[in-house]
Amino acid sequence: MTAAGQQSAVDVVGEAGRRRTFAVISHPDAGKSTLTEALALHARVISEAGAVHGKAGRRGVVSDWLAMEQARGISITSAALQFSYGDTVINMLDTPGHADFSEDTYRVLSAVDSAVMLLDAAKGLEPQTLKLFDVCRHRGIPVITFVNKWDRPGREALELCDELVERIGLQPMPLTWPVGEAGQFQGVRDCLDGTFVRYQRTAGGATAAAEERLTPDQAQAEIGADWARAAEEADLLAASGGEFDPARFIAANASPVLFGSAVLNFGVRHLLDVLVELAPRPVPRRDADGNSRALDAPFSAFVFKVQTGMDPSHRDQVAFARVCSGVFERGMVVTNATTGRPFATKYAHQVFGQQRSTLDTAYPGDVIGLVNATALRVGDTLYAGKPTVRYPGLPSFAPGFFSVARPAEVGRAKQFRKGIEQLGSEGVVQVLRSDRRGDAAPVLAAVGPMQFEVAVHRLDTEFGVPVNLESLPYTVARRLDDPVQRSIVDTGRRSEVLSRADGTDLALFTDQHALNVMLRLHPDLVVSSLVAGTD
Ligand code: G4P
Repeated sequence: MTAAGQQSAVDVVGEAGRRRTFAVISHPDAGKSTLTEALALHARVISEAGAVHGKAGRRGVVSDWLAMEQARGISITSAALQFSYGDTVINMLDTPGHADFSEDTYRVLSAVDSAVMLLDAAKGLEPQTLKLFDVCRHRGIPVITFVNKWDRPGREALELCDELVERIGLQPMPLTWPVGEAGQFQGVRDCLDGTFVRYQRTAGGATAAAEERLTPDQAQAEIGADWARAAEEADLLAASGGEFDPARFIAANASPVLFGSAVLNFGVRHLLDVLVELAPRPVPRRDADGNSRALDAPFSAFVFKVQTGMDPSHRDQVAFARVCSGVFERGMVVTNATTGRPFATKYAHQVFGQQRSTLDTAYPGDVIGLVNATALRVGDTLYAGKPTVRYPGLPSFAPGFFSVARPAEVGRAKQFRKGIEQLGSEGVVQVLRSDRRGDAAPVLAAVGPMQFEVAVHRLDTEFGVPVNLESLPYTVARRLDDPVQRSIVDTGRRSEVLSRADGTDLALFTDQHALNVMLRLHPDLVVSSLVAGTD
């Protein structure tokens, strides 16, 4: 088979049906890297029937990438890890950690079909997880919850489940329930069949943890009080709305919950099985006109992330696109819907961390990394054949953190300006200005505060400009639709208007109360909502 057009329709739909494309959303340190490695390792152990043993066997999956990450002490850029688990092809998209944290991190979620929310058992919901969860909710992405680090002392399982309901209105539906409180982890109760899955430690968690199944009676006889308590708690939760219902998961109203320990490889197989059995597969995607494009229509994809400087020796640019329909074959010439220009895909790669492997074929759900793709922008649609297809643009986000940036040393103004422009164009932070503040002290706006740290670090290391940030007290941003009303907002003591490079005027308020007061005083003021993390 040489041309995409010759691929039979059955193949494409069948191939798409084998894909599970998801991202892990978590706060730094919750164990995402550990879980990533455990998932890939476990899948390989299963797929290659025990080919991996001991520490040496850990190499080559993702550990080279991890080693590099650890050596640098930062999370290096990565995009998508693909591996097989039995008959299923898992695409795990990275929501980068600290060093890359930008709006792109949130946009990655436009390219997934589901998400795994990873919680640290001792910490529960943390700020970055909440932000990312907001985006999932806004986009209706089904979320599976994995409570990690159960091998360590932490909070109570019921308390963690209550937190999901109370703080984010997400109904937990436990699929497993931990036996033994955090720190005394013995295994889990399988909530679907009531059996006990006993975990056994293997050296360093390097291989898939050994599991043993016991009937409830056996578990009661062997475990006693801890088993009885687990069964009681799980039943309590099931009775109060937590009974498993796949339809509620797909509707993104409720989340299957699993307990485990990534570092010991406990619960990892279960998570993979849940992804295979329950997580949504790629479905026809709606284009900008609202029409669904069939999975077996000719190739189409959209760019969800553009990364510069991934290879430090070349300062290249890689565009990441998610395939939505058809078959991608390296070398095919596609059209960029934004410019109408042809785009040659000779340099298509699968990229994960610094590892790249040439990619020859991809199906709906897969991610392709297009190297040296300087012509591509986030939100661009690529397609083959006719007619034109264009997917909806990707959201930009409502910032919630604002800081004035100034160069720490006089005489670096030019580099400062250049650096700020670059970071703004990459979406590391949004850059806001106003006549009142002048050009020399732009306001950096971020969805999450980590973006500031990344910006400061990059200005210093890449542009040689140490900067000082002075944080502003605003937390609420609205779009100001009529520029004439600018003065109303600017005269407020707890508000101000700043303009974004795309021409949007943002009205900023210290808090919701300040906005409410302003609206009461000026009922004619028109501001529009930048809801749920996106505008
Ligand atoms: P991240 O990518 O989400 O930032 O987290 P990462 O996997 O790097 O894990 C953060 C820390 O949490 C690591 O410890 C890791 O070993 C530990 N960890 C991850 N999963 C588990 C778990 O299930 N149980 C326990 N007890 N610890 C877990 P570290 O001290 O920072 O590094 P290391 O020296 O252990 O490698």
